[in-house]
Amino acid sequence: MRKFNYPIMPEIMQRWSPRAFSEEPLAEADVLALLEAARYAPSCFNEQPWRFIVAQTQHELQAMQDLLTEQNLAWAKRAPVLLLLIAKRTFTEGGKDNYWHMFDVGTAWGYLSLEAERRGLIAHAMGGFSRKRTAEMFSLSPDLAPIAIVAIGKLGDANVLSPALREREKPGTRRPLSETVMKH
Ligand SMILES: Cc1cc2nc3c(=O)[nH]c(=O)nc-3n(C[C@H](O)[C@H](O)[C@H](O)COP(=O)(O)O)c2cc1C
Repeated sequence: MRKFNYPIMPEIMQRWSPRAFSEEPLAEADVLALLEAARYAPSCFNEQPWRFIVAQTQHELQAMQDLLTEQNLAWAKRAPVLLLLIAKRTFTEGGKDNYWHMFDVGTAWGYLSLEAERRGLIAHAMGGFSRKRTAEMFSLSPDLAPIAIVAIGKLGDANVLSPALREREKPGTRRPLSETVMKH
């Protein structure tokens, strides 16, 4: 059970990572609005190191599903949209390493997930996919790091999940702030 000690944005309180996706397709405007939310994340030097590859046709979905681990594929195969988040490792101006590239793509993912919640959609990030095969499939240069694949859609019936996954189909909890805030 989640426990909130302070009143915060309802989207933060309510967002979680379900696996029971409905196969219902999403409106194009919803998909684009999620990318819009991600695009307006802040980033170091306003570099906007995020890049997106959206899979939503049958053909595109099959190709991206192919990159997932077996455990993720088992449930993510029902999501009507899969989104690959990519981070550009270097600054466009000057070409130096951008230490914050993943930090900023993480912020973009956070914004996207909250906009999804606001729209009654679900978004579940996955690190479980082959980064090597992803880079090959999309001919990513070494400067472009595949970070996560996000399953996006609407909440479906938990009965489609295996008993083991159904057991885990609830919002994740968090350790208390007292164990998270470190001493000076
Ligand atoms: C970067 C990242 C990678 C993740 N990878 C996976 C994954 O491969 N498979 C999976 O089922 N969930 C994955 N998750 C979901 C987390 O397990 C989940 O966010 C966490 O347990 C907290 O639960 P909540 O999102 O319901 O609050 C990932 C989440 C993030 C942010």
